[in-house]
Amino acid sequence: DKAGHKHFMAKEIAEQPAVIGGALGHYLSEDGRQINLPGEGIDFTAINRLTMVACGTAYYACLTAKYWFEQIAGLPVDVDIASEFRYREPPVTSGTVALFVSQSGETADTLAALRYCEGRADAIVSVVNVPESSIARESDLALPIHAGVEIGVASTKAFTCQLTVLLLLALKAAQARGMISDDRLADLLSALRAMPAALNTAMERDGDFKTAARLLSTYDNALFLGRGLMYPLALEGALKLKEISYIHAEAYASGELKHGPIALIDDTMPVIVLAPCDTLFDKTVSNMQEVMARGGQIMLISDAKGAADAGEGVWQTLTMPMVDPILSPILYALPVQLLAYHTAVAKGTDVDQPRNLAKSVTVE
Ligand code: M6R
Repeated sequence: DKAGHKHFMAKEIAEQPAVIGGALGHYLSEDGRQINLPGEGIDFTAINRLTMVACGTAYYACLTAKYWFEQIAGLPVDVDIASEFRYREPPVTSGTVALFVSQSGETADTLAALRYCEGRADAIVSVVNVPESSIARESDLALPIHAGVEIGVASTKAFTCQLTVLLLLALKAAQARGMISDDRLADLLSALRAMPAALNTAMERDGDFKTAARLLSTYDNALFLGRGLMYPLALEGALKLKEISYIHAEAYASGELKHGPIALIDDTMPVIVLAPCDTLFDKTVSNMQEVMARGGQIMLISDAKGAADAGEGVWQTLTMPMVDPILSPILYALPVQLLAYHTAVAKGTDVDQPRNLAKSVTVE
């Protein structure tokens, strides 16, 4: 049942405020000030490393979480693609928690990587959408994301719910390790509780995304750029766009532009820049100027301040509500999803069942 939407993907994008709110309800105390993990949780004071493993969009959720765990909790994190991890025979030293992220909980490579860590890691933790799945069952601790059934092959609500749970986990780690003040924790939790409302506000701009997507649908290539927390999201944006619209898209960390991809820039290569107005914004503005000086067209996704500070010459601007920069990946997932969705619709591709793809990859 598509609940009045044209596609499951549109329905699942629209469900995000509700399911994120629901996930927060499962992990926060009634007053919203305490983070509660099921069972005995994780003893973050007893570990010195987190090894995160996943595939596809779940891998990008892990890359995002690395910034959180390292910046907020001071906990070193390795992130790996499951198919690489399982065959590299990586040492898993004592004091390591291995964390697997999977919507389906059945992805073959992720499950094999989990089995490799059994008996090697201090504990096996998973972040899953299907609590009865193999990955959940074989974990010491399974943390459900409560996104509800996801049918569209392109993962949307599972990604933002994965981010929500991973951020809560990073905050819990920061608290246990004495890395965050009570006030800052309370501020971030209250900003998280306000996230569903921020997503709803952003969704009111759907018409802007549709207009931008119509323009994008006429190109064969696109480049996504982001810095810091926006870099994994740029990767996710490129994946979403290529999966459902078949437009060739690549993502780079903005600072890498000069190290190669700038050679591709001309007026046939739109550049989508994800950049809320944070401490790194000025650096991103210089990258945008480098692109524009070479005839490249910038589609900027930012907030009102970023849109104003970006200066002249930006081709398209999509304005998002202001949020604490730490939380921006959850909010900025929405524009990359909507952009991919409307581009695919404009191109007439099969949004929910893109060619050659399966929802759950249970073979290598
Ligand atoms: O079920 P999983 O989260 O383990 O699936 C991982 C990937 O196969 C999945 O995220 C895939 O990349 C999606 N099609 C992305 O939209």
